[in-house]
Amino acid sequence: MGLAFRLFGRPFLALQDSEKAHLRAINLLKFFSSNPLTRVPMRLLYNPKKTIPVKFLGADYKHPFGLAAGMDKKAEAIRGWETLGLGFIEIGGITELEQEGNQKPRMFRSNTSKSLVNRMGFNNPGSEKTALQLKRHFDKHGRPNVPLWINLGKSKLTPLEQSASDYSTTFERLWVYGDVFVINVSSPNTPNLRELQNDEELAKIINACQEANEKLASQHLCNKKPILVKIAPELDDVQLKLVVNTAMANGCDGIVATNTTTSRPEPNSNSDMKAFAETGGLSGEPLNHLSTEFIKKIYQISKGEWPIIGVGGIMNADDAWEKITAGATLIQAYSGFVFEGAGLTKSIVHGLVKKLNQHGLSSLEEAVGLSHKKEALD
Ligand SMILES: Cc1cc2nc3c(=O)[nH]c(=O)nc-3n(C[C@H](O)[C@H](O)[C@H](O)COP(=O)(O)O)c2cc1C
Repeated sequence: MGLAFRLFGRPFLALQDSEKAHLRAINLLKFFSSNPLTRVPMRLLYNPKKTIPVKFLGADYKHPFGLAAGMDKKAEAIRGWETLGLGFIEIGGITELEQEGNQKPRMFRSNTSKSLVNRMGFNNPGSEKTALQLKRHFDKHGRPNVPLWINLGKSKLTPLEQSASDYSTTFERLWVYGDVFVINVSSPNTPNLRELQNDEELAKIINACQEANEKLASQHLCNKKPILVKIAPELDDVQLKLVVNTAMANGCDGIVATNTTTSRPEPNSNSDMKAFAETGGLSGEPLNHLSTEFIKKIYQISKGEWPIIGVGGIMNADDAWEKITAGATLIQAYSGFVFEGAGLTKSIVHGLVKKLNQHGLSSLEEAVGLSHKKEALD
């Protein structure tokens, strides 16, 4: 199927506007996963035949590979992602208020470097409609069969100094539905959002969410939900240390590294040149190395004792392995699905099983941060 996608799917997608291609793909996924007759062959084709059990913040994951934020902003294809065999699904980013996002076109693709540039600007239905959508989904289908993560953003209309209440309102409204929440202070397409990575602002946001977390957990007689923070790959070393220390000190359960980059590599083709000239965040292959370097640094700062989720340019099992051995316990992708197709999960999970065997490791946990341990021995 990977070959079929490369021969037919990818050239077909290349002819389409990136956002339209994205919407069509989501609609197809929704359609095929809504019917048992098509769900069964989808599972047979795309679901990994192997598992790599991982414990993450007290929950069981069948393998470490999940869907990154931004792909399913409206939480409308949850069954589809389940059917494709993902280990976890991150929906959103969701903001307190519904918003249209930036003017179109706002997503650009370069096939030669397997990269996307986007300036979507948090187009999403807002926290109230998303809560309703999730309620309907849960009432009809029950909880998803894998952990559901929810990405929290800030509404464009909310002034920066009121960010904490914007994030915590969304968090409260969606609390019952999510298994893990990600505070996203790193999208480049909402004016000044990245300033919220500053320690004081970040602490306020985390504290507001933690307060709601405690209240809701005691109301529902259950544990608090894990809260992670997602960072940009533009932080310098001092800023990165501050963010990590602030997030850890304020009870964040881990970090997602990284969001898209505003930097640009040298273009290697006309299509690179066109896409890279657009304003927005770059994702895909050119982000791979940068995000892995961030994972390594965070692993060192946190002495390997704080969960890291690796995202950025994962296109195959080698990329996934690099992120895990750099220190990531779980990994995610967005662009990889655009360029490699629906078979990505299966190829990554099967490839990771091979890697574990090649290295004589019996669990994924033994591979997390392995490159640091090797460097220390060399
Ligand atoms: C079109 C698009 C929309 C995105 N929207 C979000 C978002 O709402 N929240 C977020 O935290 N990250 C968002 N991201 C970033 C991805 O989750 C991911 O961090 C980034 O794309 C790097 O991973 P990749 O190289 O696998 O795409 C978006 C990415 C793209 C391409």
